[in-house]
Amino acid sequence: MYIKELKLKDYRNYKELDITFDNQVNVIIGENAQGKTNLLEALYILAFTKSYRTTNDRELIKWNAEFAKVSGVLYKKNRNLPLELIFHKQGKKAKINHLEQSKLSEYIGALNIVMFAPEDLTLVKGSPQNRRRYIDMELGQIQPMYVYHLGEYQKILKQRNHLLKQLQQKQSPDLTLLEVVTEQLIAHASHVLLGRFKYLKLLRSWAIPIHYEISRELEHLRIEYAPSLQLDEEATLEDLKISLADQFKKIEKNEIFRGTTLIGPHRDDLLFFINDKEVKIYGSQGQQRTTALALKLAEIDLIYNEIGSYPILLLDDVLSELDDFRQSHLLSAIEGKVQTFVSTTNIDGINHETIQKAALFEVVNGVVTKK
Ligand SMILES: Nc1ncnc2c1ncn2[C@@H]1O[C@H](COP(=O)(O)OP(=O)(O)O)[C@@H](O)[C@H]1O
Ligand SMILES: [Mg+2]
Repeated sequence: MYIKELKLKDYRNYKELDITFDNQVNVIIGENAQGKTNLLEALYILAFTKSYRTTNDRELIKWNAEFAKVSGVLYKKNRNLPLELIFHKQGKKAKINHLEQSKLSEYIGALNIVMFAPEDLTLVKGSPQNRRRYIDMELGQIQPMYVYHLGEYQKILKQRNHLLKQLQQKQSPDLTLLEVVTEQLIAHASHVLLGRFKYLKLLRSWAIPIHYEISRELEHLRIEYAPSLQLDEEATLEDLKISLADQFKKIEKNEIFRGTTLIGPHRDDLLFFINDKEVKIYGSQGQQRTTALALKLAEIDLIYNEIGSYPILLLDDVLSELDDFRQSHLLSAIEGKVQTFVSTTNIDGINHETIQKAALFEVVNGVVTKK
């Protein structure tokens, strides 16, 4: 798959943009604050309907404009697939092939993206929320049903927390409604967990050997799921449901006392170890970077294996950060197979020949010109 065309209207610092891209490597050059990241972010948004930089869609609308439009044409399975997103202050609309998709789970997955950004280190160093978001986004784009179950889970979780707050206030709370809501929560939590466990197996199978290679065969990466409750990664959907029900029953009083849901996928985390030491705690800056890089590189192959088509790669200001060995590793992994967008302030920092023959675009204050 590759993106043929991108159109922007009143999006971030872009008033109007319509460009066609090369199906191999596209380099976006520009000084700071001209719109390089915004441009790559637009491609990301076209895949996920939301940004990785903000949870507030309103920030995407150009200042003083009413709405923002991000659209494009994806070439996939020998045909053109028009994608379109409109962000109003009240909400957003997503269209595939000019047809509005009522559920996000029906939109996400059409376009697959793997992004490398300076923020990637938060994947290792940041809060559990960063890692849950990572797994949710990556898994969502290859498994639309995951997006559905996660969305339902989050909706019911809110209701359940609200209910627990109400029960907290009461002398002798009636638990009938709580039991119903807990059952609904479990129905989706079990799918979310099952999805994550399956995904972790895939992620490990790709990321661990890649990590070994880019650490010059010196380091072994281990990835663990740290659940907020006792779980068996080999469990079936039924097992998970039973186990969740058991554990919710056990902590019912405590949850009412605390007025919130204490266990479930919204409290889980991922742990990374290098040579059996936790990277977040003991890893050097270099080891943290290598871990993040291996996780992202793994996505490329993982998506290809699951979807049958390579994702589109976005490299926002990260290439010049990598040493020559890692730069070469990355660029040879994508060579000729993966449409890639590279942003940089200075192309001289990137020596690889892939970059020398790329299509060049310059961005100045939200205006892009092909070089
Ligand atoms: N909603 C918005 N409306 C108008 N301008 C915006 C909006 N959001 C961000 N910007 C502007 O976009 C510019 C940053 O663009 P960015 O793509 O991050 O730069 P860089 O080229 O350094 O990657 C900044 O000048 C910022 O003020
Ligand atoms: Mg930038």
